[in-house]
Amino acid sequence: MNPDSVQSEGLQAIAVAPDTAALEQVRIALLGRKAPLVLALRELGSLPPEDRGPRGKVLNQVRQSLEAALDARESELEAAELDDRLRRDRIDVTLPGARVERGFAHLIEQTGREILEVLVGLGYRISDGPEVDTVYRNFDALNHAPTHPTRQATDTYYIDEHTVLRTHTSPMQIRTMQSQPPPVYMATMGRCYRRDTPDATHTAMFTQIEGLAVDRGLSLAHLKGTLLAFAREMFGADREVRLRPHFFPFTEPSVEVDVSCFNCARDGSPCRVCKGEGWVEVLGAGMVDPALFGYVEGYDPELWTGYAWGMGVERIAALRHAVPDIRWLWENDLRLMEQFG
Ligand code: PHE
Repeated sequence: MNPDSVQSEGLQAIAVAPDTAALEQVRIALLGRKAPLVLALRELGSLPPEDRGPRGKVLNQVRQSLEAALDARESELEAAELDDRLRRDRIDVTLPGARVERGFAHLIEQTGREILEVLVGLGYRISDGPEVDTVYRNFDALNHAPTHPTRQATDTYYIDEHTVLRTHTSPMQIRTMQSQPPPVYMATMGRCYRRDTPDATHTAMFTQIEGLAVDRGLSLAHLKGTLLAFAREMFGADREVRLRPHFFPFTEPSVEVDVSCFNCARDGSPCRVCKGEGWVEVLGAGMVDPALFGYVEGYDPELWTGYAWGMGVERIAALRHAVPDIRWLWENDLRLMEQFG
């Protein structure tokens, strides 16, 4: 083994190693356990004593110069590789980012929130109630006769004899009066269920908003004023409301409420919203039948009167946006939904 050539060839190999991985191979070849230089160092002990000193000195000098060159080259290559990595990883903050799709509330939810917002503005408190409720609250305490037709299993989904999927949000009138003394100004939104055959204006699951007010001296005029405020917020400042006599078991008198058409001149010419009538039916309402107070505690019918109403959120959303079939609102076809995003 010639130390001079090991040194010069070694330094040459170190100088041309292109990267740290290659340099590591060079290090093993030059200073690894099987490297000629290392073997020679190990064999020093078997040399005659007078040769050991000079030979050892030469070999160690070679080793030191190789080690120093390896370390220097390693730092150099590491720095170059880091530079390279930084250059490749550089982020161009001016490039457009990956777009994150934002969701939005469904039209039914949007419409419902808008209605509740109006009612909150009028002083109503929002309550939330269960979609599964008792026959007692859904029918009995709402003054439905035992033989009332909507109690039938052909109209109503029964969970068991005493429990139904609520057919309207009106059981929340009872829940509210069961849980607090008067006065009451309550509004609630939620899903309801009826065994209807689906068509353009009916779905087996739908959304209602219910309002209930109980206070001293409330009259039909207060109901009408409340609904007028609602109608003008939702359908336009020029709207009027009209009450037509109707029947509900839990209100007396009961009315159906129409809003003056927001789509036409109301002169009898054809209109897809009001069919030329000039009025559009939007909800059912009435004065709370005093009989209901008999089903709850603390509501003396001599002291308190009230009014209530219930409306279909799908119907109102469909009317405002000219959606011809409320089933479409439940199909979640994005081509329709995204128009309301
Ligand atoms: N619950 C009635 C319905 O679903 C609507 C209504 C609510 C009527 C409150 C009067 C008072 O048709």
